[in-house]
Amino acid sequence: MHDEDERDRLIDKLTLRAKVRLLTGADTWRTAAEPAVQLRPWVMSDGPAGVRGPSWDERRTSVLLPSATALAATWDEPLVERLGALLALEARRKGVHAVLAPNLNLHRSPLGGRHFECFSEDPELTGRIGAALVRGIQACGVAATAKHYVANDSETDRLTVDVRVGQRALHEVYLAPFEAAVAAGVHMVMAGYNAVNGTTMTASPLLTDPLRTAWGFDGVIVSDWGAVRTTLDTAAAGLDLVMPGPAEAWGEALVRAVEEGHLAEQVVDDKVRRLLRHAERLGALGRPDPRPGPGVRPGAVRALARRAAAAGTVLLANRGVLPLDAGRLATVAVIGAHAARTRGQGGGSAGVFPQAEISALRGIRARLRGRARVLHVPGPVPAGPPPALDTKLCTDPRSGAPGVLLRMLDAGGSELYAEHRSTGRLLEPRLVPGAHTVEINARLRPRVTGAWTLGIAGFGRMSLRVDGRTLLEGDFPQDTDDPALVHVSPPAHCATAHLAAGEDVLLVARRALVPGTGRAVVVSAAPPAPDEDAALEAATRAAREADAAIVVVGTTEHDECEGRDRLRIALEPGQDALVRAVAAANPRTVAVVNSGGPVEMPWREEVGAVLLPWFPGQEGGGALADVLFGHTEPGGRLPTTWPAVLGDAPVTGTRPVDGRLDYTEGLHIGHRGWLRAGRTPAYWFGHGLGYTTWAYEELTGPATVRAGEPFTVRVRVRNTGARPGREVVQVYLARPGAAVEYPERWFAGYAAVRARPGAAVTARVRVPARVLRHWDERAGGWRTEPGACRVLAGRSAGDLPLTSVTELLGDLPAASVPEAQGDLPPASMTELLGDLPTASVTELRAEG
Ligand code: BGC
Repeated sequence: MHDEDERDRLIDKLTLRAKVRLLTGADTWRTAAEPAVQLRPWVMSDGPAGVRGPSWDERRTSVLLPSATALAATWDEPLVERLGALLALEARRKGVHAVLAPNLNLHRSPLGGRHFECFSEDPELTGRIGAALVRGIQACGVAATAKHYVANDSETDRLTVDVRVGQRALHEVYLAPFEAAVAAGVHMVMAGYNAVNGTTMTASPLLTDPLRTAWGFDGVIVSDWGAVRTTLDTAAAGLDLVMPGPAEAWGEALVRAVEEGHLAEQVVDDKVRRLLRHAERLGALGRPDPRPGPGVRPGAVRALARRAAAAGTVLLANRGVLPLDAGRLATVAVIGAHAARTRGQGGGSAGVFPQAEISALRGIRARLRGRARVLHVPGPVPAGPPPALDTKLCTDPRSGAPGVLLRMLDAGGSELYAEHRSTGRLLEPRLVPGAHTVEINARLRPRVTGAWTLGIAGFGRMSLRVDGRTLLEGDFPQDTDDPALVHVSPPAHCATAHLAAGEDVLLVARRALVPGTGRAVVVSAAPPAPDEDAALEAATRAAREADAAIVVVGTTEHDECEGRDRLRIALEPGQDALVRAVAAANPRTVAVVNSGGPVEMPWREEVGAVLLPWFPGQEGGGALADVLFGHTEPGGRLPTTWPAVLGDAPVTGTRPVDGRLDYTEGLHIGHRGWLRAGRTPAYWFGHGLGYTTWAYEELTGPATVRAGEPFTVRVRVRNTGARPGREVVQVYLARPGAAVEYPERWFAGYAAVRARPGAAVTARVRVPARVLRHWDERAGGWRTEPGACRVLAGRSAGDLPLTSVTELLGDLPAASVPEAQGDLPPASMTELLGDLPTASVTELRAEG
């Protein structure tokens, strides 16, 4: 380990130009190396639901965990910490040193395109769950990254939007989760694309104060990918690392700025010092890199991912239908397009190629095998671009193997390079010298006759031919600079072709490669959509025939994806009609909602039960079956309030006006906003049922507390049902009659307890001092107002049967040093891995 003096000696060995070179990435994911000081490159890769590794390649699969909303819905920090450890092991297996997660932005509007990737509407819950993930990742020697600092809560014009937010809301709401991550020791913070109050975040004074000064962050501040567009202001503001590289914003321009005296060389040295310290933490400085570390056996990983998915699944409503008794069912109907094609993850930079994907249908079939007959009917198909070609639909015309043939052609159309791939979604086709065109060839064997929808996605000159006939051809100009859209989810252009069942056709898709426009190309195909009435009729018939019906509906790739906000939260009309028809045909209907964020459920009172598995990750189907048939209790509680209809939500705006997005609601987002507006949502923050019932019997708390100090309240609850269960006991605060404006009431803490039927148990809920303080805008600091504080306990922001009052004494400026999040000290890697059997990476490779 080097000390500061030794690091200074290393810095002295470098010229200004050599130092500046280290401050911009060497490529998309790697930092620059400097042999003169034994600095090796270190690698970053996106999370949070899995670690993709430094390439978009379906052959490099990853463990896919449930999406962030599902993790927050567990309200289980030790579990999240363990999942963080698993992500770290994935990172090490893939040679990744820093995971670009967690995403600590908030669910401000239900329309937020990355809602699925963020934890919650609430700053305290987001901070606690985020800190747990950070602890888990970092306990295993991998850096976590708190992103996107700050107020990057929606996607519309995200590269330029100027978020206008008052100082109080900024500190109490939007900065708070980042403060929690820093208190948990996070090694990296990512500065967002957006601006806050007039200054773009990569040049924002917020990078210094509070991040470095008040919170004492000593790690690395990295830019979001492509977020640095200027030199001097960003370098002076405290940013350390520009990603990706090569890029020109710093480099020579920064060298010149220092040489001409516009920036002190000391500022560059400070950045290099932080980068060296960081590299050393990650094993990339000095002694040889010891990674990769241990891996976890695939069976154990799958069991943990399945447990996590069940733990985050929220039972929103249950009219005595769940759990289903598998022993009493002869026939079960599993209905809906999402049943067979369950969405395990949302779209965008966080995407991975999962090792496996267990659909709802597969999970249910596996559980009922040998016990009950499973009927599957897809029902109406949700609208949207067709799915990318995969091994089920086509073969490589050259080898005959399932999948496609990728060819790289020169300007004359001659083949430079070819390889077999298993997907039509090729985001990073290998570039070879002289490459001019990327081509995908696939032999498609239609199983149905009719008008197939075929699509090609990308930018620039593209064509799609079917058996030599041109179906699509043209110049599709790049109308966005957003990297998530350019490189990950380019828009699809579609046309229809009449195909006959069993008659192969050859698809040839081409995209010309133009520097600066990305090189992603996606070829997709969908069979003719069945007639909607006939599809509904078939679903109704199956539901009628069955002893129970499970209807799975959800959002599409087009709907929940980074780079764009949602336009509505209603499902496709055909999906709502499907649930209604199935529920009308069978009173034992369970509606399963496969989405990462809120959807409207106009039928929620008509079905027997509503289950929300979110985007459940690779083991979703198995976890769903565990919950449906009572093997596991649905452990989840909503981390965000769900409206009945979008128009009811107090905050929905994601569209900037004249470049500005005004957070006029101030502190009042999420349940706070609903309470202030006096409106009732479909389901409150914190809501979720288990398979038993609970009575809230007694709340005891201190009569007085010194302002600025934490306190503990005790909540006695009794399991009044017939099964053992876990209850998430929540505490909220209110300050009636206070001089300062507060939310009507707000979330302050929780504790999860377990009890057998009939047993009482006392939850000890710690109320941290930070949830009682407020940001005094005039003084520019924290204060805690003395006076009466109402403490409420219950099961959601809208169901709080117990109340007590605590008197806050004194008027102390609140501590400026953040308290540790959660009640748990950081665990070691060994503790976190616990009963997960580990193996060396070589053994794991042998296991495949
Ligand atoms: C996203 C980040 C991501 C980065 C690298 C950006 O477009 O906003 O969350 O980490 O790309 O993929």
